[in-house]
Amino acid sequence: MKICVAVFFGGKSTEHEISCISANQVLHALNSEKYDVLPIYISKENEFFIGDELFDLANYADFIKDPGRTLQKVAIYKDGNAVKVRPVNGMFKKPINIDVAFPVVHGTNVEDGSLAGFLQMLDLPFTSCDVLGGSLGQDKAVMKDVFKANDIPMVDYFIVYGNDFEENYEEYLKKAKKIRFPLIAKPANLGSSIGIEVIKKADEFKEKIEECLKYDFKVVVEDMIKDLKEVNISVIGNQNKARFSPIEEVSNGFLDFDKKYNPNGGAKGSKMKGAKSAGASKGMASTVRIVPAKLEAQQKKIIEETALKVFKVLNSFGLVRIDFMIDRKSGNVYCNEINTIPGSLAFYLWKHAGLEFDQECDEMIENALNRYALKAKKTYSFDTTILENYRKK
Ligand SMILES: Nc1ncnc2c1ncn2[C@@H]1O[C@H](COP(=O)(O)OP(=O)(O)O)[C@@H](O)[C@H]1O
Ligand SMILES: [Mg+2]
Repeated sequence: MKICVAVFFGGKSTEHEISCISANQVLHALNSEKYDVLPIYISKENEFFIGDELFDLANYADFIKDPGRTLQKVAIYKDGNAVKVRPVNGMFKKPINIDVAFPVVHGTNVEDGSLAGFLQMLDLPFTSCDVLGGSLGQDKAVMKDVFKANDIPMVDYFIVYGNDFEENYEEYLKKAKKIRFPLIAKPANLGSSIGIEVIKKADEFKEKIEECLKYDFKVVVEDMIKDLKEVNISVIGNQNKARFSPIEEVSNGFLDFDKKYNPNGGAKGSKMKGAKSAGASKGMASTVRIVPAKLEAQQKKIIEETALKVFKVLNSFGLVRIDFMIDRKSGNVYCNEINTIPGSLAFYLWKHAGLEFDQECDEMIENALNRYALKAKKTYSFDTTILENYRKK
């Protein structure tokens, strides 16, 4: 019998559409001789839908507006040892049993551990990070603190907390001056460059941080690399065994950002909002890539070693992409962030290493099933007589 793989995508996230594109690539990459593939679309209202129409990206613009019109709303539930999917308006229809979940979601409310938590509750094997790995990968502030605690090379930074920003304004400003302007400010929990601000000088500090605080309670403020080269690497595996892909150099609008927002010249204003399309950041067509990136041997070594370390300390699993920044002037390498479910699952990097997209998906599914089997061996409950003491005598 074939394994039923449920591909989850969409969700209440600013990266909903990008997730649909990534997921559609996965739906077509999965080997139909090995798997029954079930696409499960999570609407922007977090309702679940199924339907054969989900195999065709051309239909998606309509689904997003009104998914119920063409697709079937379903409930996903545990029934004994099985996990089942059944249309909510057709309770007499035979439910579909799913064996493994393949989340292809991006951003808040889904990639941040939320979907992992749901799947964990269902006791279903799944291909991506667990709750902790997902949430550490989403929150830039906690992520940076974990990097720092593990000596991961990174730019100087500090975190602004919205609840005491006014009260401790002078202290925060002191921290900013210590790193020196220009600085970059990022809302802790967003992606695709949304809400990111360049702070050119001290008298912009207050206004720019307040702008970021409209998006989040926490803001990461960090040293801005003016002559930036951006490189990414993917890691596949689990906490026992992981390996890295070739490295890509990307330029995607944010290098335009250099021209547009460079404090030393270029255009007016310093907002990066929307400066690059979400698609570009997530690895879609508009990104220009060079694989393998041209790097000095030492830089390559630092990136590869750091990537494996990041994968480990952030409790990662499955397939992730880790993004680095290189200061072209000094040659220094800094780790920027992890994407726990990267756009297009970074298939273009693995293909370069000889791993085709379908094989990549096979490996992720195998990994998920192995993790599940290993976990099943651990003890999560034990018999006790505690409640016997509460019986009415
Ligand atoms: N410290 C920095 N110096 C220069 N540019 C930066 C810095 N941090 C981020 N950027 C630019 O902003 C982009 C988005 O920032 P990033 O931290 O990757 O957040 P996101 O989650 O939105 O991708 C980066 O890809 C890079 O082009
Ligand atoms: Mg990024």
